[in-house]
Amino acid sequence: MQAEATYNYKVVRQFTIATVIWGVVGMLVGVYIAAELIWPALNFDIPWLSYGRLRPLHTNAVIFAFGGSALFATSYYVVQRTSHARLFSDGLAAFTFWGWQAVIVLAAITLPLGITTSKEYAELEWPIDILIAVVWIAYAVVFFGTLYKRKVQHIYVANWFFGAYILAIALLHIVNSAAMPATFWKSYSAFAGAQDAMVQWWYGHNAVGFFLTAGFLGMMYYYVPKQAGRPIYSYRLSVVHFWALIFTYMWAGPHHLHYTALPEWTQSIGMVFSLILLAPSWGGMINGIMTLSGAWQKLREDAILKFLIVSLSFYGMSTFEGPMMSIKTVNALSHYTDWTIGHVHSGALGWVAFITMGSLYYMVPRLFGRTQMYSVPAINAHFWIATIGVVLYIAAMWIAGVMQGLMWRAVSEDGTLTYTFVESVKATYPFYAIRLLGGLLFLAGMVIMAWNVTKTISTSKPQEARIPEPAAAPAHA
Ligand code: HEM
Ligand code: HEM
Repeated sequence: MQAEATYNYKVVRQFTIATVIWGVVGMLVGVYIAAELIWPALNFDIPWLSYGRLRPLHTNAVIFAFGGSALFATSYYVVQRTSHARLFSDGLAAFTFWGWQAVIVLAAITLPLGITTSKEYAELEWPIDILIAVVWIAYAVVFFGTLYKRKVQHIYVANWFFGAYILAIALLHIVNSAAMPATFWKSYSAFAGAQDAMVQWWYGHNAVGFFLTAGFLGMMYYYVPKQAGRPIYSYRLSVVHFWALIFTYMWAGPHHLHYTALPEWTQSIGMVFSLILLAPSWGGMINGIMTLSGAWQKLREDAILKFLIVSLSFYGMSTFEGPMMSIKTVNALSHYTDWTIGHVHSGALGWVAFITMGSLYYMVPRLFGRTQMYSVPAINAHFWIATIGVVLYIAAMWIAGVMQGLMWRAVSEDGTLTYTFVESVKATYPFYAIRLLGGLLFLAGMVIMAWNVTKTISTSKPQEARIPEPAAAPAHA
């Protein structure tokens, strides 16, 4: 079959498999550090097993290796199918795959060795940062190049979200990683003091907004209508959703720096824009969930749809909670506590991981020439185990967080603090145990998925799909 007549599924398959592998690895490290918080001796006095080094390994592995590979896989799949065009360049696409995997491997080596810039979510040192920038530019060329050669006049809304995420991450990464190298593995930020903090959290918050949100909304706009077999609820709402979301996110970063040396007015801007952000976020969630209107019964049998729709519920929950936490007086209680960790994981597990799992379950059979996954009951089991896992995780962290905040601010009649810090740590132990259990369940679900994907692949052959002839092409394939 002539290559140009088919879609490039090879790179999609590669990134899909990488997503599953890195999902298991990243969550395993998450479970390990959750256990270390209960039994610190688990670091065995080995520096690279210590909590401080494994924690950034966890965040990098789940966000950039698991989430990143999922975003590459789905954006390459969606842009081809909705453009009726093969990827702009097979060679560059292959380069993005191997380049991104090289970044991940380098992160997995340097972080446990303690090589870090110490900027959260941007810990990797400058030589790796340069590699990331090069891979990302290649990604942009492949993605926008494919849009350029599309055979369909219209650019489907999922591509708007993927496109915004690719552009914004390039901007954020290049600005925030600007640094002066001292040696090969040590550099100093180009920014200093409060400015450094401001740039870092402009980056950090927009990494949430564009990497963990806009990209995954791209997935939502394609896979939810596809799996539901219905058009998106409101195309007009999706356009409003897009512009409102990307405009607002950029200004909300300072909510990470309340009560710091940052000028007061910047903190207030961060708070106000975070509150405004509730509206576009919920507009998007409603658009996704309402796509099912008139077909709610499908939720009863279809496990893939359960993943997709429940992910939207968690998206709604975390984007309600986030604006509340950005209110300065609420943040005075939540900051430094496990409430933040609960918020993070309701977004990360409930939204990011669930929408990824649903999208992958939709895509894997199609990439391997099957009508469905090897085991449908296993998808169902995965869904329920993972749901119980998330609920245990986030409920434990919410209770622990509010408790810590209240204990730290409790004052006795004589004006002294009612509790010592260590008392709050002791009171947190049972909740750490519940979180560990939740994490173990979530990991178990991911292992079931890995088994199901392996079985699906090993009992079928990679499948190429023909690009429809222009005349026969429906609006969105
Ligand atoms: C309207 C949307 C959202 C708003 C306004 C928001 C707001 C906030 C606030 C106020 C904090 C606490 C900052 C602090 O006290 O240090 C926070 C932390 C965080 N949020 Fe959100 N959030 C939103 C959605 C999400 C979603 C959907 C995710 C994940 C997918 C997410 C991931 C995170 C992460 C990773 C942190 C921790 C950052 C850190 O300190 O390392 N947020 N968010
Ligand atoms: C089995 C599943 C998981 C477990 C058990 C787990 C566990 C943990 C633990 C113990 C921490 C450190 C909390 C602290 O320092 O107090 C953490 C942090 C974090 N995890 Fe996870 N995690 C899991 C999955 C994920 C996934 C899938 C994502 C993202 C897609 C994620 C994103 C994060 C982030 C962004 C932080 C840093 C939060 C902050 O700095 O505020 N985790 N995780």
